[in-house]
Amino acid sequence: MKFAIIGCGRISYKHVEALVHNRESAVLEAVCDNVVERAQKRSIEYAQAVAAAAAPSVYANYIDMLREADIDVVVIATESGYHAEIAKYCMYMQKHVIVEKPMALSTNDADEMIEVARANGVKLCICHQNRFNKSIVELREALTEGRFGKLINGTARILWARDMNYYKQAPWRGTWAQDGGTLMNQCIHNIDLLQWMLGGEIDTVYAQTGNYIRDIEAEDFGTILIRFKNGTIGLVEGSACVYPKNLEETLSIFGDRGTACIGGLAVNKIETWRFADNKDKEEDVLLEQQDDPDSVYGYGHIPLYKDMIEAVRDGREPLVNGEEGRKGMQIILAAYKSQKTGQPVKYDGLKFATIDMRNEDVR
Ligand SMILES: NC(=O)c1ccc[n+]([C@@H]2O[C@H](COP(=O)([O-])OP(=O)(O)OC[C@H]3O[C@@H](n4cnc5c(N)ncnc54)[C@H](O)[C@@H]3O)[C@@H](O)[C@H]2O)c1
Repeated sequence: MKFAIIGCGRISYKHVEALVHNRESAVLEAVCDNVVERAQKRSIEYAQAVAAAAAPSVYANYIDMLREADIDVVVIATESGYHAEIAKYCMYMQKHVIVEKPMALSTNDADEMIEVARANGVKLCICHQNRFNKSIVELREALTEGRFGKLINGTARILWARDMNYYKQAPWRGTWAQDGGTLMNQCIHNIDLLQWMLGGEIDTVYAQTGNYIRDIEAEDFGTILIRFKNGTIGLVEGSACVYPKNLEETLSIFGDRGTACIGGLAVNKIETWRFADNKDKEEDVLLEQQDDPDSVYGYGHIPLYKDMIEAVRDGREPLVNGEEGRKGMQIILAAYKSQKTGQPVKYDGLKFATIDMRNEDVR
């Protein structure tokens, strides 16, 4: 399966790495960045890693790339504000798409992306790689087996540090037009996991957010209170302000017959695993787990690619398709609206009133 990457900045090395690890079924055919040196760098890295006879072609313009190169799957890792426009163009061109999170910055754009994928018969995958963490796969299994009993509540804590050097790396960071604050950029992974575990369909979202110490447009700290239609309650605590460095990303799920906390740097480390059914022993589960990764990006890109490759090959949906990717993003858009209005935001079915991060809905 032939891949291309659009956007060869900070995160793109994880996409190259995922393709290198999946090289038996995938090849990186082309890379593209407006700043062409960045694309060249990734092309060379990939060619060296797989000892390729020819390096991936390098482009400065993705429209030229799609016209000239023979590509099955396009990976979009540009600034978030461009995801929807580029993804829709690629899907109109009959390409399958993996797009970085957040998939879009408005509910309408997300809906359109889902519709364009459907209308063109292509697969759309959103890069929520933490859903593939070994610890999260085990948690999800425990949940679907009913081991928690009656679900009560869950907590997503993202206590990280992003200093001004991080925000100054690129002018789009922390802006409403291209990024959002720490909830939309850093916390979206754990918010996605929280909603995946607690039940998806949402009743109400209420948020309190603020800008405390970072010189950016959007929030650097936020809390969200989510009531799901099944009665469970989710709490989010997300910070970019922790002194002096990243502390933890933890997901905790509580039922009347089970308690699990997955923490460490980025929800890879099982810290608590207690179930009434005694199917497994907490000390064994804690011993048999993966090491905590040394970066917050974790290990998930490689299995996410494997899932997408199989989905395209077998004609099934990827685990994190457009509908799935929209769920976490919607919660954050609703949180922004709640902060703006001072009111809880009530959902109407799975979808809810249009919210766009780029206009007065949230600013
Ligand atoms: N999944 C994760 O864990 C994770 C981690 C970090 C970032 N991200 C997401 O990845 C995206 C990129 O983040 P980043 O930190 O790598 O940003 P970045 O600014 O370092 O890189 C973005 C790159 O896209 C290029 N670009 C912009 N428009 C383009 C276009 N039209 N054609 C070709 N190239 C274009 C820019 O020149 C830049 O090199 C963001 O949406 C971010 O939220 C996801």
